[in-house]
Amino acid sequence: MSPGRAQGYICSISFIKKIKMKALVYYAPGKKSWEEHAKPVIKEPTDAVVKILKTTICGTDLHIMKGDMPEVAAGRILGHEGVGVIEETGSAVSNFKKGDHVIISCVTSCGKCDYCKKGMYSHCEKGGWILGYMIDGTQAEYVRIPYADNSLYPIPAGSDEEALVMLSDILPTGFECGVLNGQVKPGDTIAIVGAGPVGMAALLTSQFYTPAEIIVIDQDDNRLAVAKTFGATHTINSAKENALIKVMELTDGKGVDTAIEAVGVPPTFELCEEIISAGGHIANIGVHGKSVTLHMEKLWDRNISITTRLVDTVTTPMLFKTVQSKKIEPKKLITHRFKLDQMIEAYDTFEHAAREKALKVLLEN
Ligand SMILES: NC(=O)c1ccc[n+]([C@@H]2O[C@H](COP(=O)([O-])OP(=O)(O)OC[C@H]3O[C@@H](n4cnc5c(N)ncnc54)[C@H](O)[C@@H]3O)[C@@H](O)[C@H]2O)c1
Ligand SMILES: [Zn+2]
Ligand SMILES: [Zn+2]
Repeated sequence: MSPGRAQGYICSISFIKKIKMKALVYYAPGKKSWEEHAKPVIKEPTDAVVKILKTTICGTDLHIMKGDMPEVAAGRILGHEGVGVIEETGSAVSNFKKGDHVIISCVTSCGKCDYCKKGMYSHCEKGGWILGYMIDGTQAEYVRIPYADNSLYPIPAGSDEEALVMLSDILPTGFECGVLNGQVKPGDTIAIVGAGPVGMAALLTSQFYTPAEIIVIDQDDNRLAVAKTFGATHTINSAKENALIKVMELTDGKGVDTAIEAVGVPPTFELCEEIISAGGHIANIGVHGKSVTLHMEKLWDRNISITTRLVDTVTTPMLFKTVQSKKIEPKKLITHRFKLDQMIEAYDTFEHAAREKALKVLLEN
């Protein structure tokens, strides 16, 4: 090859590197691939392109892979959590510049529409939960973030960025959808059904309000053991014991003041209906792909409330302070660490959480 040709060859490799990246692409239920993909570019002046430093996998990604969300298009890059560094900003982005480290919120919000003005970012007319769902997400080397000024949070130098990945989704989700909607109060007896990362986030953040008893229910003994170390006063393996009988024994037959559903399948929501005390609150967090039976014939006179919520991430700045001051230590939820290009292995580990003793898996670029 002549020197001129060789130089041209090298130039074209570096050009491809500039426009290509690796990403986790969803094709159909059970079908995904870690492959080369076009690198995102700025489309709107309010966009930023962020280079991913750390990302993770969510229970919601598993719902997508199971086929619970058929609205996800083939070819979509999954992922809605992570921290990164700003690569490029659109002309209207004023809060961030190239080189800034940021937390990527799982919810995109314009900050200007009626819903955003009410603090209901999850239903932003131009955003909401779209990342890794309706638009390409964070399980990639780069991601485009619309409305960057409102959808990213700055990371001060010297912060523990692994812990901050938990602020993208699981901490605000457990807190807003579970603890706040469930109206947890001092002295309450609460039950958290599901000890995955989201249930664990509800467990950690419920303790801001000092409930007297926290009963955690799951089918995974390892996760239940971890829940004990995070402050659960009782744990129940519902695959081995009758959870309804056990909860009634623990509560003098009354049931719990708050039942937080953090799984997303009919039996766990129906268990919440059975264990709720008169005047109690059922706070649903789980993403449901199937209808559940609402036993109004038993609940109509029980003075209970049932809430649903897509996380708004409005409490992220408050939760950020509790993580920075180590009032809560969500980093302890990380059980496995991978390089970004071990994405398929990381999915396998998270999909077989009981076998692998996994909670949150962290992927680093
Ligand atoms: N509402 C929101 O905005 C929002 C945001 C994020 C996640 N989510 C949802 O929260 C849920 C939990 O997420 P995660 O990341 O912790 O998921 P995960 O899959 O890691 O955890 C789910 C847990 O439920 C347990 N489980 C499964 N079936 C059970 C049963 N029949 N009885 C008892 N336990 C059972 C599993 O062992 C597991 O520990 C998912 O449905 C996810 O989609 C909702
Ligand atoms: Zn999620
Ligand atoms: Zn909006």
